[in-house]
Amino acid sequence: MIMTTEILSPISENLRRAADMLKNGQVIGMPTETVYGLAADACNKTAVENVFKAKARPSDNPLIVHISNMDMLEKIAYDIPKLAYTLAENLWPGALTMVLPKRDIIPDITSGGLDTVGVRMPSHNIARELINLSGCPVAAPSANRSGYPSPTTAMHVFNDMNGRIPAIVDGGQCSVGVESTVISFDDEYTVRILRPGLITPDDFMKYAKNVIVDSAILNETAPNQKVRSPGMKYKHYSPNSNVIMLTGSLDKFRQYVEKYKDENICCLIFDNDAGEFPFRFMTYGSTYKEMAYNLFAKLREADELGIETVFVRTPSIEGVGLAVYNRLIRAAGFEVIEL
Ligand code: TXA
Ligand code: MG
Repeated sequence: MIMTTEILSPISENLRRAADMLKNGQVIGMPTETVYGLAADACNKTAVENVFKAKARPSDNPLIVHISNMDMLEKIAYDIPKLAYTLAENLWPGALTMVLPKRDIIPDITSGGLDTVGVRMPSHNIARELINLSGCPVAAPSANRSGYPSPTTAMHVFNDMNGRIPAIVDGGQCSVGVESTVISFDDEYTVRILRPGLITPDDFMKYAKNVIVDSAILNETAPNQKVRSPGMKYKHYSPNSNVIMLTGSLDKFRQYVEKYKDENICCLIFDNDAGEFPFRFMTYGSTYKEMAYNLFAKLREADELGIETVFVRTPSIEGVGLAVYNRLIRAAGFEVIEL
């Protein structure tokens, strides 16, 4: 039997249906404020297995578990540092995932065999409602095919998952656009950032004595290097188009691209670059937050247009720029051309 994937508008009757699907061990597309997730009951091994299958995700890459209240946190994690509670109080619900020691109620398949679990309390109303109505902690990786840019609309999820899951709840375009900031704790005073996001190193400095940005965020890991977060070692966020990052001034950017102007290219540039720009282009914002909001949708659009190479104006690694840079450098296979 071929399954067709239904897109559900977020009326209360549909949310109840979607929550029942979660309770019954099915996998659904769920909106969150960061990106869409591929949601399943985190405690149901078969359901979680089906998440890995639908995404074609390597089994050692753990899933984030989504909760809607602090009782749920203590049901799935233990030995929670005081700093984690402070961060939860100030930054949850929101785009923050904390890696904590895992209780047995979360099966090994969900945590990719690790004895920790990544936990996030999303702020998106629909996500919170689905978790509440189902009563389950909800495991949800980004709802893209493994390696492809994360989905920020229900249609992106449909394009990747049609026929693989019964339903997607449509919550409109995600307001953040890149995935949550993932952190672990080196000790009771130290936050280690494993994946950058909307919540920046400076945000953590308000609550933690030390904040370490893990070196794997900006550097390619060696083939057998041990990493603190399995997601660091996989190719990611990559459209079929070739992504090339160029640093430096707009003038140098234009001079560089000139050589390729007769090829099937497109430039992904800042809003302010657009006046009299001589080559085919798309813009992705003027602030880092806007770039985060638009980035994945633009990379997907480049594929839909059949573009062979996308030349990207590269943001700096300040603030939320670090998250945009981190996604781009993975999409570009760690190649940055300095002009
Ligand atoms: O914003 C988000 O985080 C989205 C939405 C759906 O919530 N989810 C998401 O999940 O981005 P995913 O599976 O695409 O990325 C999760 C990342 C991976 O890089 C994974 O390796 C890391 O978090 N991670 C999860 N659990 C971990 C753990 N126990 N220890 C270390 N890293 C972990
Ligand atoms: Mg992902």
